Amino acid sequence: MGKYIKKCKIYKNTCIKNYNNGTMNMVKDMQYKITTYSEDETMELAQNIESEKFPNMVICLEGDLGSGKTVFAKAFALALGITDNITSPTYNIIKEYDNAEMKLFHMDVYRLNDIKQDLGIPEYFNKKGVCIIEWADLIEDILPKNRLDIKIRILGEETRQFIIIPHGSKYEDLCERVL
Ligand SMILES: Nc1ncnc2c1ncn2[C@@H]1O[C@H](COP(=O)(O)OP(=O)(O)OP(=O)(O)O)[C@@H](O)[C@H]1O
Ligand SMILES: [Mg+2]
Repeated sequence: MGKYIKKCKIYKNTCIKNYNNGTMNMVKDMQYKITTYSEDETMELAQNIESEKFPNMVICLEGDLGSGKTVFAKAFALALGITDNITSPTYNIIKEYDNAEMKLFHMDVYRLNDIKQDLGIPEYFNKKGVCIIEWADLIEDILPKNRLDIKIRILGEETRQFIIIPHGSKYEDLCERVL
């Protein structure tokens, strides 16, 4: 598979690890802050994360309109080897791509409330593909416990801050490897 640059070098990368040493067990709370200064840098970040993909991976994107959620999803899809034209699933909610290394379920749940039927979203978390969910914060109650949360803040016309929070050891390991 044609792969892009695997290591982030260009990002300002701050890793904050907070250890709350409770009486019974240790709670590890890890988050990464990465700033990108162009669409290309955001694409590179997505490609780096793609290089550590695994079946049933769930990536939850949060961020205002135009923050870069679809840019991230498209770059991930491209790195996965998806050759179809990847379009935003705003109106269909879920788009499925099945012609690459691994299936990709690209969701945009912004308009989910307008749709009357139950789309069975939780089933997609176990279909051995990767799920990328735009506006995931709107369906927080049905998200799996183990997942990668990515919050995007618009800092300027071409500047975006990514706050990446891994939930579960698989996602923590992934972040340690590629961020
Ligand atoms: N650093 C950057 N990272 C990502 N996108 C950027 C960056 N700088 C500028 N952009 C631009 O911001 C826009 C992001 O659009 P995108 O469709 O990805 O947003 P979105 O978060 O999916 O919005 P929506 O909620 O409407 O789906 C694009 O036009 C892109 O070119
Ligand atoms: Mg979008």
